[in-house]
Parts: sequence; C-alpha cells; structure tokens
Amino acid sequence: MTGSRKIAVLGAGNVGGTLAQRLAEMDLADEIVLIDIVDGLPQGKALDIQESAPILGFSTRVTGSTSLDSIAGAEIVVETAGLARKPGMSRSDLTTKNAEILRDHALAVRAHAPNAIVIIVTNPVDVMTFWFRQVSGLPPARVFGESGTLDTARFRWFVADALKVAPRDVVGFVLGTHGDTMVPVLSHTSVSGVPLTKLMPKEQLDAIVARTKTGGGEIVNLLKMGSAYYAPSAAQAELVRAVVANEHRVLGVTAHLAGEYGLQDLCLGVPVVLGRAGVERVVEVTLSAEERAAFEASAAAVRADLAGLPPVTRAPA
Ligand code: 2OP
Repeated sequence: MTGSRKIAVLGAGNVGGTLAQRLAEMDLADEIVLIDIVDGLPQGKALDIQESAPILGFSTRVTGSTSLDSIAGAEIVVETAGLARKPGMSRSDLTTKNAEILRDHALAVRAHAPNAIVIIVTNPVDVMTFWFRQVSGLPPARVFGESGTLDTARFRWFVADALKVAPRDVVGFVLGTHGDTMVPVLSHTSVSGVPLTKLMPKEQLDAIVARTKTGGGEIVNLLKMGSAYYAPSAAQAELVRAVVANEHRVLGVTAHLAGEYGLQDLCLGVPVVLGRAGVERVVEVTLSAEERAAFEASAAAVRADLAGLPPVTRAPA
C-alpha cells in the first residue's frame, strides 16, 4: 500500500458497493469512503465490507457517510450516483435527472477535494463526464469517464468465448460513445498479436460487434430491475489502479477531446495513457473508413445529448 490515500465512492448502489469491495480487496488506499443520500445504506455496506478484512487480509479502512463533506481530501472520487436504466430505457433517458444529482457532487468536489481525479460512471457517461467537468471547473485531464474499458471487456469476452482462448489474450478497443453507436475497432483487435479478422469469418465478427453494442442492455433485460455492476466495477477498479499506481496504462476511457480525432468540446470514448495525473494523452489510432464514419456518428449522438443539458452553474474558482 502507498502513503496516505483516500478514495471516495459516490453512490452506494450495486455499482458503488461492489466497487468499494473490489478496491478494499486490492488494498490500494488507507481509506475508502462510500457516500449515499440513503441513510444506513453506505454505512451498512461499508461495515459489511470492513468485516471481511480479517479474512481477506486487507488493511484499508472502509467507512460510510451521507454527507458530501466526507469527500474532503480524497485523491480519487468515483462518481456512481444517479438513476440506472430499466428495461426499455436508453442511457440518454437519464440525462436530466442525473445532471441534477451530479451538479451538487461536482460543486462538492470543487469545494472539498479540488485536487482529486474524478472517474465518472453515471450514465449517459459521455455527457455526464462533460457536464461534471464543466460544473466543477477541474482540469480536463482529471475528469474522465469509464466506458471503453467495460465495452472492450465485453467485446474481448465474446471473442475469447467464440475462439476458446484466454480472455486476457484478446486485445483491442471499443471507441465512441457508451451507447448503441459505440465502435468496436476490429482493425486494431488481435489475439496476442494475430489480427482478429484472420481468425474469424465476417458474419461471426459482425454478430459479436452487434452483441457488444447492446451488451449493457442485454444485462438490463436479464436483471429486469437495474443494470450491470460486476464487469462495470471491475473496469472502474482497473482505472483506479492505473491512476494510483501511476501505471501509464493504455485504456479506453471517455476523455475530453481538444482536436484529437478532429473533434473538440465533447467527451468520447478513446484510448488514452492513464497515470497519476489522470489522462496523460489521448492516443490517436488510424481507423478504417467504415470505423471513422461510425466514430463520427457516435460523436454526433453525444452532441445531440449535450444539447439537452441545463445551463452550467459553476462554483467560484
Ligand atoms: C452498462 O453498460 C451500466 O452502462 C452500464 O452496463
């Protein structure tokens, strides 16, 4: 474990609770604080996780709170609060309500943890990442969203399952929005360096791409009362570790674009180098004409959602 480190997880639902558990088991921090407005929920989950420490061997202190002031001093804040999808809803249907919730949180981070790195999970994640950054006024490198790592994990699993190979040997990217217009980039996907396009017929690849795009919805439809949290929390934990351990990992996140890929003034899923400073740089990969067109359609879908955001009220700098 490194130094004195506090991680705040906003939202103690299935995603936040599972993430807190994963982070505690990774023993990455001195303290994890789980925060929620529902009294008893964060405290109960925190205590439950804490009581597993003697068995699992971690030293992290896990606490629960209903006060946003409890984020004070956090090095990393993971934003999981907000409504989740129910069957029949798109991620965009959550925009107005979740923007209200995140406004308060962005102002609280600005006031109590202005040096934090913030990882946004709340959907629609590309829009909420942009919104949180705008309201908080934090530097773009320190506010990014979790999406590509999860979508890529789903894609990698479907490929591994089809080819009967180890999931970790499938590498690649899913770019664009965390929604139906996401872009699994087949031209940069391989199994330990062997191009995927050489290992699978086109129809099978097309079916995997289609399943990846609706991967979150597949879980929503199965659960019927909420959305996924095991794979999402694993993706979030991977991002937290990349920051805490300054790993300079190349991972897909929802990042602010300032001219990369010919786009600006929006957040979109792209590969980045991730370390202690947050997003160190966006990695630009060459896309095929078809992938490029799909990526631009994805950007247009996010821009349409951004237009639905309320005016920004920012805390004084
Ligand atoms: C998912 O794709 C919840 O958006 C999240 O499962």
